[in-house]
Amino acid sequence: MEMNETTEVRNILGLQLPTDPRWVDLASISLEDVLTDHAYCEQKAATTCISLIQRYSQHPGLVRTLAPIVTEEWGHFRLVLQELEKRGLKLGKQRKDEYVNALIAYQQKGGDVETRMLDQLLTMAMIEARSCERFKRLSEGLQDSYLRKFYRRFMESEAGHYKVFIELAESLVDPTTVRARWAQWLDHESVIMNSQEVRGDRIH
Ligand SMILES: [Fe+2]
Ligand SMILES: [Fe+2]
Repeated sequence: MEMNETTEVRNILGLQLPTDPRWVDLASISLEDVLTDHAYCEQKAATTCISLIQRYSQHPGLVRTLAPIVTEEWGHFRLVLQELEKRGLKLGKQRKDEYVNALIAYQQKGGDVETRMLDQLLTMAMIEARSCERFKRLSEGLQDSYLRKFYRRFMESEAGHYKVFIELAESLVDPTTVRARWAQWLDHESVIMNSQEVRGDRIH
């Protein structure tokens, strides 16, 4: 049953590789580290949405769509912070995120504005998809039933965001181009997931 659900989420999101099943065990070793990484992911999601609004203010649809996401992601950050505090844990330092860095390295830096914007939106869609998959792992694999529910809610929210970014891209760029580029992103993400540096014990 759980295997089927996991496969289903993977298919919906199009991710080609599941997270290593041992990842939840790794994650449960230090809840402080998991929550700290998670907190910064939410913070980065909020600040990246702000950057996108600043960079692409010429698209009212993008501004309108991303403005509430900023609020939501910041709300997520606060929820994670609350969990840390409740447990007497500390928000640690932000760690270098090799996964996100590898995604950013894959973005086309040249070309026209539309091409660059598309890659930036697809990067966000990818991070949301992978976060969703990892939150699903946590929602199934953690010992603590409260935390399982906690992560279930994040999973649903990030799945929604994944959809928002894909649909936003399709509203701004020719949908055929979006789908073709997304297929390349999915292929490349599986290469990144297989690389040594990225197979760590973290949420992205
Ligand atoms: Fe979030
Ligand atoms: Fe999100």
